[in-house]
Amino acid sequence: MPTRADALALLFEHTQTESLRRHGLAVEGVLRLAATRQGADVELWGMTGLLHDFDYEAHPAEHPFWGRPILEAAGYPPEMIQAIQGHAVFTGVVRDTDLARWLFGCDELTGLVTAVALVHPTRSLAELEPRSVRRKLRDRGFARSVSRSEIEAGMADLAIEPDALIQFVIDGLATVAPVIGLGPTRTAGQGDGEGRQLRTA
Ligand SMILES: [Fe+2]
Ligand SMILES: [Fe+2]
Repeated sequence: MPTRADALALLFEHTQTESLRRHGLAVEGVLRLAATRQGADVELWGMTGLLHDFDYEAHPAEHPFWGRPILEAAGYPPEMIQAIQGHAVFTGVVRDTDLARWLFGCDELTGLVTAVALVHPTRSLAELEPRSVRRKLRDRGFARSVSRSEIEAGMADLAIEPDALIQFVIDGLATVAPVIGLGPTRTAGQGDGEGRQLRTA
């Protein structure tokens, strides 16, 4: 199986947009924490998060189908490839593993929580509460590219209460906050709104 360094190189090779690179790193952080709590394979889950959108920027219309043979040829495990296919609802690939359910359940929610943190004056996750995220979940004009229906479907699949899952995503993001432009305090150069371009795919 390729290493985490291989996975990062593959993501960066196909993704130039900072916000999309950060999205992969963000979902990686959340899934690594999920794997730790579930007693699952932390490297496998982390790399699945890192790579789930690796072909989106270059091939948005064919994502995630386009990337599948690349991942297969590189020797990534079938469980990961299936989970990546399954995170896109239109593929029809069933999410019948914990990894697939956690990727789907955290992907769009990670985008939403990140967007909420980025508009907070301090960009701080520490001060973020699930209820502020829930308010933005209902505010359809906020972070419009984030699919509310997929977030709700993901929560239902995982059978986790919304606030608990939101708090979990906040905790997961906190593990990678510096690399995705979030932190306890605003630092020089971070106040330009660049991170607000964050999209999910
Ligand atoms: Fe995607
Ligand atoms: Fe995504």
